[in-house]
Amino acid sequence: GRQSTFAMIKPDAMSQLGSVLSELTEQRLKLRIAGLRLLQLTTAQARHLYNEHQERPFFKSLVAYITSGPVLALHLTGPGAVGRWREALGPTDSAVARTSAPNSIRAKFGTDKQINAAHGSDSVAAAHRELSLMFPEWDVSDRLPSL
Ligand code: CMP
Repeated sequence: GRQSTFAMIKPDAMSQLGSVLSELTEQRLKLRIAGLRLLQLTTAQARHLYNEHQERPFFKSLVAYITSGPVLALHLTGPGAVGRWREALGPTDSAVARTSAPNSIRAKFGTDKQINAAHGSDSVAAAHRELSLMFPEWDVSDRLPSL
């Protein structure tokens, strides 16, 4: 059914924003942009957004990367939006994406396993948490019947 997910165009892909948004709005994906914000994340916001990774060796580097420039935060809706957006992104590692999913967004716009062009929530629960964090002015729970 209708679902919401959180997407984020990362600093490395912002210079190709038009092309990334064209991929995102492809008819077959059936994703609609319900909200968007252009912002530069603070270190505190980045640490909150990625708190599930705080024990990972790459956490500091991830926070530095994601705060290095503006990002576009998006609230996407559509049937199976979480899975469809993850599918469109391809594997986390852009190099892997280029071999296993050459038409994916990370294959086309990403660099490596960290600098990978865009983010997508990995579950409905993560989507709810990330949307609440990045769109605090919205009462997300009140607007997302599938959550
Ligand atoms: P994202 O889908 O936003 O979720 C967590 C991010 O951490 C991921 O994309 C990458 O940018 C980064 N990441 C994941 N795994 C690694 C890794 N092994 N080394 C460095 N960065 C990583």
